[in-house]
Amino acid sequence: AGSIEIDLSKIAVGQQLKTLWRGKPVFVRHRTEKEIAEAESVDVSALRDPQTDEERLVPNAEGNLERAFLVMVGVCTHFGCVPVGEAGDFDGWYCPCHGSHYDTSGRIRKGPAPTNMVIPPYTFVSDTVIKVG
Ligand code: FES
Repeated sequence: AGSIEIDLSKIAVGQQLKTLWRGKPVFVRHRTEKEIAEAESVDVSALRDPQTDEERLVPNAEGNLERAFLVMVGVCTHFGCVPVGEAGDFDGWYCPCHGSHYDTSGRIRKGPAPTNMVIPPYTFVSDTVIKVG
């Protein structure tokens, strides 16, 4: 199928839902306040693939950025392994294949991966449901 719906209300704070979209893993993480603060406090100009946390989020049904939920394709941009959550030096994800560290916004911070993990196209179809694809 081309698109999938995900009910965010079933993902507790500090948990990650992993699902499949077009054959690829998609991570939906309900970030903690600490994770959001870490994602926002980064000096973006120093990043390998400079992106603010805001640029990696989409507006909710009210038009506000939903900072609590990070939605991304759970594929390392180096050679495509699936990174492990709540791991690595930046409290985000760690790819065990060759040691890439991603932060709490899924941005590459250390290791061989060239770019941030990809944000798939998605929209909020209600306060708590997103449609990916
Ligand atoms: Fe992830 Fe190489 S595939 S570091």
